[in-house]
Amino acid sequence: MVICLSNHLNQSKMIRTLVVLILFFKAGLLLQAQNAVPVYLDPSKPLEQRVENALSLMTMEEKVALCHAQSKFSSKGVPRLGIPEVWMSDGPHGVREEISWDSWGAAKFTNDSCTAFPALTCLAATFNPEMSLIYGKAIGEEARYRNKEVLLGPGVNIYRSPLNGRNFEYMGEDPYLSSKMVVPYVHGVQQSGVAACVKHFALNNQERWRDHIDVELSDRALYEIYLPAFKAAITEGNAWAIMGSYNQLRGEHCCHNDLLLNKILKTDWKFDGTVITDWGGAHNDKQAALNGLDLEMGTGTDGLTTSSQSSYDYYHLANPFLKALKAGEVSTDVLNDKARRVLRLIFRTSMSPNRPWGSFGSPEHSKAANQVAREGIVLLKNDQQILPVDIKLYKKILVVGDNATRRMTLGGGSSELKTKYEVSPLQGIKNAFGAQAEIKYAMGYAAGSPAYGRELPSKYNLDTLRNEAVRMAKGVDLVIYVGGLNKNYLQDCEGGDRTQYNLPFGQDKLLAELLKVNKKVVVVLISGNAIAMPWVSQVPAVLQAWYLGSESGNAIASVLSGETNPSGKLPFSFGMKLTDYGAHSFDKLCFPGDSVKEVYKEDILVGYRWFDTKNIVPRFSFGYGLSYTSFHYGKASVDKPKYTKNDVVKLSFTLTNSGKRKGAEVVQLYVQEKTPSVIRPSKELKGFSKIRLEAGESKVVNLELPVSQWAFYDEAGKQWKINPGQYVINLGASSRDIKQQIPVTVE
Ligand code: BGC
Repeated sequence: MVICLSNHLNQSKMIRTLVVLILFFKAGLLLQAQNAVPVYLDPSKPLEQRVENALSLMTMEEKVALCHAQSKFSSKGVPRLGIPEVWMSDGPHGVREEISWDSWGAAKFTNDSCTAFPALTCLAATFNPEMSLIYGKAIGEEARYRNKEVLLGPGVNIYRSPLNGRNFEYMGEDPYLSSKMVVPYVHGVQQSGVAACVKHFALNNQERWRDHIDVELSDRALYEIYLPAFKAAITEGNAWAIMGSYNQLRGEHCCHNDLLLNKILKTDWKFDGTVITDWGGAHNDKQAALNGLDLEMGTGTDGLTTSSQSSYDYYHLANPFLKALKAGEVSTDVLNDKARRVLRLIFRTSMSPNRPWGSFGSPEHSKAANQVAREGIVLLKNDQQILPVDIKLYKKILVVGDNATRRMTLGGGSSELKTKYEVSPLQGIKNAFGAQAEIKYAMGYAAGSPAYGRELPSKYNLDTLRNEAVRMAKGVDLVIYVGGLNKNYLQDCEGGDRTQYNLPFGQDKLLAELLKVNKKVVVVLISGNAIAMPWVSQVPAVLQAWYLGSESGNAIASVLSGETNPSGKLPFSFGMKLTDYGAHSFDKLCFPGDSVKEVYKEDILVGYRWFDTKNIVPRFSFGYGLSYTSFHYGKASVDKPKYTKNDVVKLSFTLTNSGKRKGAEVVQLYVQEKTPSVIRPSKELKGFSKIRLEAGESKVVNLELPVSQWAFYDEAGKQWKINPGQYVINLGASSRDIKQQIPVTVE
């Protein structure tokens, strides 16, 4: 009995000990659980696991909040889970100044003056993908320093008409060139943990009626001309974001366009990133929910300033979306897909463990801007080798033109920049030549200051300005004319197109008058578009100098003085007159449309494809640009006479710098199918390379051309197709300066 009792006591003691132990174990587990880092916060976990984990912890409301703006340039994160907001900035030439939370006004920060890089037309004119990488890396670092998750750029809409107000933000008329140039830009930006947002997808090829114009074009034109650069940015560049365009394609706005976003982008190209609207580009609840849009940003809101509730809650992807989800009208899969894509953006940028620090307004960035600017300037004409300026011959120089002093980083719309500095052409010229020559300036013509959607007249009298410039030009040894377009409304500017092909502000007349009193007029054109040049035969030299950003004047002077030997080539054709362009060869329905619809009647024949196929001689052709030295092309050969569709043609030849200065030549390869089964352009760029050579130096140039890239889009079969047969590879220094033709057979 005693034994029994003691046994019983021992047993209950043991049970108690066991219970205590279990409790301790449980508490330990709990403590461990409390201390454990959730998967989404664990940087060692793969991105997709982090995204899925975060998604599993979120409410429906939190997911919807990811899908629309909370301010002009930001959208919500998930505050409860410590997932940060998304901050964006324009793009594409520098990081835009801070904008107010809820209006388009400047936020008036004092630490947001950026480096302005050259406009993308200039970048394209370098024909040098290495420059794209330098550019992307530098602008990405600036965006990172400013704590942006998304840089709204680059733009790759194709140059269809020289009237398009935004051509300066794009990379020219050729899908191959823009594809090759956009990829390294995207890589460069994203190295800093900032998403590049390629824009405007797609067919935003004019500003007039951009909010609603419905583009009608063939599948061939869509696939062969207007989509390739976007495709390259996504499939090769791995861009993390893309911006829908304002216009419509086949009856649906491109910001929620089933064909473009669901089918082509997300299915065919397997895009796993975020589709962002252009600001205010969504128009329809159902389409916004179902047609591939992920994040709605906006313009049309008075936001918190005039309402007790946030107007952003009334966006298509805000309350209406939530309501439809709750009513079961839209599946939660749709919501999860959008939220997942926005989370991916956040985990790739602000929540990436590998995100480097940025830098802003640094000497390295100025150097990058300067390098791109110098490489992109195109020498269009140079009679009697008047350039480079031999300063011993010119003791009195007159600089004429409003563009010599105008700040070109101002205006233009959303790409406008507040810069740390901007060297004007006049300042650059003074710095380069001022010690050896007397430099005077005459404004010559004037334009008002830039204003969004409005033309502000100038306070100056054009006759007075012209007379003064002509009087001053009489007594000088050299006139450097710095003119062109500017960033005012109806020039190179968002929200409107140019109204004429000729130079504005009386410049044609001014140039004609100047030439009457002085033949030595060097014309420096600052523009993002081609222009008519009725005076061109009379001027000895013309430089196409684009919008060059902070280093503008330094780069221009460097080319004028010969310190830099120009090596830029035109990324679009300069037609003699407007009606020479394909888009302007038909009726108004073809350009600018009838305000409802626009039909791309020139089809695939855009830019030089039109000029060459129709035998229209342009003023200056695509790919054209002179140098201060000369190049000799040796005989080219290919590795085989016959190829299959999967082969790569290996072409080689010797290039010699036959002049007296070191320089760089862009060698270009254009392919033609001899007996096509459908209309094909007489030439299509399929390869290029920039070769640097010392004076007298020779190099063997090796170029590779994948035959697969010679395909056309077969509308009947809805796929890319290569016909067997005869092809010609045209090797040249421009689309019209063909040095050799190499026939090859595709079996
Ligand atoms: C432009 C976009 C720009 C956005 C934000 C729109 O008007 O079309 O290119 O990124 O505004 O500024």
